Amino acid sequence: MTKVKVSIVGASGYTGGELLRLLLFHPNVEVKQVTSESYTGKFVHKIHPNLRKSTMMKFVSASELETCDLLFLSLPHNNSQNQIDEYKKLAPKIIDLSADFRLKNAHEYEKWYGHKHARPELLNEFVYGIPELHREEMKKANYISSAGCNATASILGLYPLFKNNLVEEDRTVIEVKVGSSEGGNKVNEGSHHPERSGVVRSYQPTQHRHTAEMLQEISFGKKIQIHFSATAIDMVRGLLATCHVFLKENLQEKDIWKVYRDAYGNEPFIRIVKENEGIFRYPEPKLLIGTNYCDIGFKKDDFSNRLVVISAIDNLMKGAAGQAVQAFNLMYGFDERTGLEFPGLHPI
Ligand SMILES: NC(=O)c1ccc[n+]([C@@H]2O[C@H](COP(=O)([O-])OP(=O)(O)OC[C@H]3O[C@@H](n4cnc5c(N)ncnc54)[C@H](OP(=O)(O)O)[C@@H]3O)[C@@H](O)[C@H]2O)c1
Repeated sequence: MTKVKVSIVGASGYTGGELLRLLLFHPNVEVKQVTSESYTGKFVHKIHPNLRKSTMMKFVSASELETCDLLFLSLPHNNSQNQIDEYKKLAPKIIDLSADFRLKNAHEYEKWYGHKHARPELLNEFVYGIPELHREEMKKANYISSAGCNATASILGLYPLFKNNLVEEDRTVIEVKVGSSEGGNKVNEGSHHPERSGVVRSYQPTQHRHTAEMLQEISFGKKIQIHFSATAIDMVRGLLATCHVFLKENLQEKDIWKVYRDAYGNEPFIRIVKENEGIFRYPEPKLLIGTNYCDIGFKKDDFSNRLVVISAIDNLMKGAAGQAVQAFNLMYGFDERTGLEFPGLHPI
């Protein structure tokens, strides 16, 4: 069988390394080139030691990239929109993991990102990268913009409720707790071990850019409000979104169960996690490390119409590389689970 030849741009970073970990073992993929400007000529395992004996590839500079079937772009924000013409010449298909092409509306982009988009006319060429929402579009897509990690957990948690018009439009509050790998591999003052270790640091209580993706994907043409806050906690991988919504009608938990089962019962990477006893009653990011699952649970408040939805992912997997490979599988008509079917570790 002919394999799809892919290259990864920005492969020395965390999402690039995670893509490589997945794609090296994907039965339908040949990884052709991996780029790094800082480590050109160095073995990949110098930077990603978990890949020792998995590959003897070396990093090349992006200027040495050859044509391939598909390019994964794992670069910091604001790169791909400025270089997209060069990338398009190299490959007919692109999956961009940055935020550059996630929003459809250029005004919204400017509002949330604080500058004009370099190529607003291309925004509609990209399919927004959550397969559970855009599966059919992905099957025909040449360009996919992978979703943000905070946005993925929050959107998947709330999508069935908004789609079925079950919650008040202006009272959604989401608090995300996230590990340090969300910030990428560049060191800064905040990532210095004495400053980062042990923290519960509120780093974006309001105005988080991922709010724009959430509004785009779950408003269904209505004017809704999402009040989103993000807190950095002492984990390396993983993300937990606690979403507070207020039900329009007095639904019981069995009704909510049905809503989630109808939405996600056949989804290979979404699990409803809600037990009545034991310690694993609700989703926990720790149990998802290295997997492409999104675990979703909920609890109705007995004393009010508040419903708490709890959604957990590994930010580098379902929040980035895993979800990108899931989208890749759809683009090429492969089984969506190819290269992604493994459970997490327990205990960990
Ligand atoms: N981390 C997450 O949880 C996560 C989740 C979802 C989406 N994303 C998005 O995915 C993209 C990559 O994230 P990441 O966490 O993999 O980032 P990262 O660890 O910082 O890696 C980015 C890589 O891009 C290369 N690069 C090229 N031009 C650069 C420049 N001008 N400045 C800095 N680095 C440059 C760097 O490699 P060389 O210097 O070796 O070339 C670097 O290793 C970002 O847009 C991010 O928003 C990240």
